[in-house]
Amino acid sequence: MAAFADTLISWYEGHKRDLPWRGEPDPYKIWVSEIILQQTRVQQGWDYYLRFIDNFPNVKALAEAEEERVLKVWQGLGYYSRARNMHAAAREIMSKHHGTFPQEYDKILELKGIGKYTAAAISSIAFHLPYPAVDGNVIRIVSRIYGVCDDVMQPAVVKRITEICEKEIDPKQPGSFNQAAMDFGAMQCVPRNPNCDDCPFQLSCYAYKNNLVDILPVKKKKSELKHRYFHYTVYLSDDQTIIEKRTGSDIWRNMYQFPLLETDSEKSTGKPVYSTREILSHQLIHAAFYVKNVKKLLKLAENQLIIDFDDIEKYPMPKIMTEFLGYLAGN
Ligand code: ADE
Repeated sequence: MAAFADTLISWYEGHKRDLPWRGEPDPYKIWVSEIILQQTRVQQGWDYYLRFIDNFPNVKALAEAEEERVLKVWQGLGYYSRARNMHAAAREIMSKHHGTFPQEYDKILELKGIGKYTAAAISSIAFHLPYPAVDGNVIRIVSRIYGVCDDVMQPAVVKRITEICEKEIDPKQPGSFNQAAMDFGAMQCVPRNPNCDDCPFQLSCYAYKNNLVDILPVKKKKSELKHRYFHYTVYLSDDQTIIEKRTGSDIWRNMYQFPLLETDSEKSTGKPVYSTREILSHQLIHAAFYVKNVKKLLKLAENQLIIDFDDIEKYPMPKIMTEFLGYLAGN
C-alpha cells in the first residue's frame, strides 16, 4: 500500500493536535516531551513539559542541576526513574558528547532511559531519520489496516508490524509520519468504537472490510500457570518394575514413566521417597515418587509393561523421571 504514508500524513495535516512541542527543532526539547509522554497522557504532560523546559532550558542546565531539583520539578508526574535517567543522560551527553545531543539512532538508544520507541521518535522528529516509532497505537493501526491477525503480545508479530512500518515510513518526512501515526491512533483509530465512517483508510482497511475492527489487534492474555500434581509409584519385585507409556494428547506423549496418578492438589496417601518440580511453558509439574515392594508385579492397563529395572534407561523418559533415577543411583 504505497499510499499509506500519504493518506496518513494528509489526515495529519487536517487533524494534528496543537501541542507545545510540535514543530520544535531542538532535540533536547523533543527528548523531554517524549520522556514525559512515555507514561503520561498528553493532557497532563503539557504543563509539566513547559515547566520542565522553563527550569532546564537545555542539556547543560539539566546536567548541572541538583537531582533534588529535577525531582521537585517532576513531582506529581510519577515514574520518577524517568527524571533520574534523564538527569543522568544529560550528564552523559555533557561528558561523552561534548554537550551536543547525539544525532544517530544507535547513540540515542544508548542513553539512559531511552528505548527503541523513544529513540525512533527522537531520531525521526529531530534528525529526519527513517525509524518508525512502534507503540500500542501503531500496532493497533497497522494490525487493523493490514490485517495482522496474530497475537500482538508475541515479539515476532510486533517485529512483522515494525517491518511493515519500515517499508511504509516516508523517508522525506519520517517525523511527520510517526507523529501522524501517534495522533491517528489517539484520535481516529482508537481502541473502542473508532469512527470508521469518517476514516481515510475505509476502502483499504482489512479490519473494516472484514468486520474485524472490534477483534484487531488480537491480544492474548498470558495463560495462567497451571499446577499439576503427579504421583508416581515404583513397584518393585525382585529386579523388576512396571512402567507405562503415555498416550493421548497430553505432555510427554509416547514417553515412559512409572505408573502415575494425577491429583488436583498436593495431597498424597503416603510419604514420597523423592519429590521434585518441573516448569513447562504453562504448567508447573509437582512430582512425588513412592516405592512399593510387592510379591508379584501386575499389569493394570494396556499401556503398562513389566521390565527389568536395569533396562529402564532404554525407554524415552521425561526429565522428571531421569532426575528421579539419578537420585536412586546416588547421583
Ligand atoms: N506520544 C508520544 N510521543 C508523542 C508525540 N510526539 N506527539 C503526540 N503524542 C505522543
